[in-house]
Amino acid sequence: MLLPSSHRSKPPLSKPIMESHSGDSLLIDSHSLDSSRYSLVGADLRFSSDLEEKLKKHNLDTHLPTLLIAECVLVYMTPQQSANLLKWAASTFPVAMFINYEQVNMTDRFGQIMIENLQRRQCNLAGVEVCRSLDSQKERLLLNGWETAHAIDMMKVYSFLPQADVKRIEGLEFLDEKELFEQLMQHYCICWASKDSSNLGILVFPENFYGS
Ligand SMILES: C[S@@+](CC[C@H](N)C(=O)[O-])C[C@H]1O[C@@H](n2cnc3c(N)ncnc32)[C@H](O)[C@@H]1O
Repeated sequence: MLLPSSHRSKPPLSKPIMESHSGDSLLIDSHSLDSSRYSLVGADLRFSSDLEEKLKKHNLDTHLPTLLIAECVLVYMTPQQSANLLKWAASTFPVAMFINYEQVNMTDRFGQIMIENLQRRQCNLAGVEVCRSLDSQKERLLLNGWETAHAIDMMKVYSFLPQADVKRIEGLEFLDEKELFEQLMQHYCICWASKDSSNLGILVFPENFYGS
């Protein structure tokens, strides 16, 4: 989770917040940022009760439809810790969607090299076991309280982009390492899960949506 102190020290992040809140009360300390319209809270995601307490202090209404996004964060927790977080989210928000972007296909040679490179930089991926495959990613969501789960790798996402735009942009910036780019894209995925106890319709995806 990005701490408010990072926002303060990075003008591209802090400037729009300051500008859009001129005239509003805006409280910032090293672990949180609070205003009537926007809050940022730093928390250790391994401890969901602390997280919930902090979010409630910032007036989170768990009954509103909620979108939760994790970007390369769950992989730093053990499978048990990320399962607990997902279970907490599924039981706390009656209508919600969880989007997770992180590594996948990590048991092949390329994945192993990614892990070794990170370990050499003292970066341990404690939860990499869940990043075995798209199925293991979906399974974690389904086993922890989410009603639907989908997962696709980023190469597939790339193939869904409008091809005319892809060709135009590839023409602007020549991609000389296409094979490496494709391998990298096959080792990251986007997963989305939902639950909809009020039947608002957020679970409705066409049959075989994106083949996932
Ligand atoms: C590869 S970065 C991804 C950045 C992330 N998408 C963001 O917006 O800050 C991994 C991030 O995971 C965070 N992280 C790792 N373990 C965490 C935990 N137990 N609780 C909260 N954040 C954690 C690290 O602080 C780091 O910022």
